[in-house]
Amino acid sequence: MRAVVVYESMYGNTHRIADAIGAGLETAFDVRVVSVSQAMPEVIADADLVVVGGPTHVHGMSRASTRKAAVQAADKPVGGLQVEPDALGPGLREWFGSLGDYPVRAAAFDTRMHGPAMVTGRAARGVTHLLRQHGFEVVAEPESFLVTKQDRLEPQEEDRARDWAAKLAAGITSS
Ligand SMILES: Cc1cc2nc3c(=O)[nH]c(=O)nc-3n(C[C@H](O)[C@H](O)[C@H](O)COP(=O)(O)O)c2cc1C
Repeated sequence: MRAVVVYESMYGNTHRIADAIGAGLETAFDVRVVSVSQAMPEVIADADLVVVGGPTHVHGMSRASTRKAAVQAADKPVGGLQVEPDALGPGLREWFGSLGDYPVRAAAFDTRMHGPAMVTGRAARGVTHLLRQHGFEVVAEPESFLVTKQDRLEPQEEDRARDWAAKLAAGITSS
C-alpha cells in the first residue's frame, strides 16, 4: 500500500513533522513525503492514504500574504530562521484549488503555537474541511504539533508525530 504525505512549510518545522509522519507510516506503507509545490495530481492519484499538513497562519491555513510576511520575518538577523526553498510558492489552499476529487483515505495535521486551539487557531481544521470537499475519506481527527514562540519545534514533537502516524497506519491496516 502507498501513502503520500504532502506538506507546506516556511521555516522547516512542518517539513520535519511531515518526515516524522512518513517514518511512522513506513510500518505499513510505501511512503513518499512531498512538498506541496511537488505534489502534482499524479503523485497522489494511486495513493491508499494521503496525509496533508501545513503551518497555522493567522488562525488558519496560510495565504500568499502570510507566506510573504513569514519570509520577511525570517530576514531579521535575530531569529536565525532558514526559509524553505519553495516558501513563496503555492500553499495548500492553492493546491486544493487545482485538485480534483479523490475517494481516498486521508488525515490532516498542522504546526502551531502552544495553547488552546480556540486561541491559536489551527490550520488542520481547514485542511480537513478541504479534504472532505475533495471527496477524501477523513479517517483521523486533525492533529497539531507545537512550536515555540521562536518558531522551533517543541521537544518530542517529532517523536509524537511518528507515534501518531504509526497508530494511524495500524488503524487502517486493521480495519
Ligand atoms: C504570518 C504568520 C502568522 C502566524 N499566525 C499564527 C497563528 O495564528 N496561530 C499560531 O498558533 N501560530 C501562528 N504562527 C506561527 C506558525 O504556526 C509557525 O511559524 C509554524 O507552525 C512553523 O511551521 P513552519 O516552520 O513549517 O513554517 C504564525 C506564523 C507566521 C509567520
